[in-house]
Amino acid sequence: LRFETSTDACKRVAREIASLIRLRASEHRKCVLGLATGSTPIRVYRELVRMHREDGLSFHNVITFNLDEYYPIKPEAAQSYVRFMNEHFFNHIDIFRSNIHIPKGNIELESVPGYCRDYEELILKNGGIDLQLLGIGRTGHIGFNEPGATRDSSTRLVKLDSLTRIDAAADFGGLDNVPLLAITMGVETILQAKRIRLLAFGQHKASIVQKAIEGRMTTAIPATLLQNHRNLQYLLDHDAAACL
Ligand code: GLP
Repeated sequence: LRFETSTDACKRVAREIASLIRLRASEHRKCVLGLATGSTPIRVYRELVRMHREDGLSFHNVITFNLDEYYPIKPEAAQSYVRFMNEHFFNHIDIFRSNIHIPKGNIELESVPGYCRDYEELILKNGGIDLQLLGIGRTGHIGFNEPGATRDSSTRLVKLDSLTRIDAAADFGGLDNVPLLAITMGVETILQAKRIRLLAFGQHKASIVQKAIEGRMTTAIPATLLQNHRNLQYLLDHDAAACL
């Protein structure tokens, strides 16, 4: 789907999320959301916060799983995704803290594999993700599934691509401060979501968006691995759709 502006696209996804939450609430059921970080989804969160304040949208029945987190990182670090999600979203809504799940970037290395298995299990125990919000990195990464990630990958510790680290350098005050690793949901974890909504804005995303949508499926561009999903929508602004 192409939109005149990125704000229109963000509002559209926010409305879809809000209807899903309300539908589930009316059935006394939980709504499980897969959430993303980065500059792209910020206005989706802003719009949901507005709906909470002005339209009485409640998040009491919402359970969230974030895609990824740097490793190692302390939750209170300025660049942590815990901090990002709190500042842009969770601090402003009525979600129960115990319903929020973000991969922990400060656990011991030895406990990471078990922790990742538990993360996957928890998603399944909650009935799977109803709607997964996604951005896309310039390497074609989804979450932190960098080039080389396979279709059957699950939540795990990964090495960040050098381009991804360069893109994050400004946030960390220099490349040397950017963590080398991250914990991310796998491609398979993402594919199991019932709906996937991928947002991309700006001309710097145009070329990777074209490859992700029109290119052949390859692990070299992890976003291409989404192509067969039954309920996947790309929401693009004019600039990001320019090469299609
Ligand atoms: C990071 C995140 C991704 C995100 C990407 C793009 O690498 N882990 O989930 O999609 O950045 O970020 P932006 O939306 O700022 O372009």
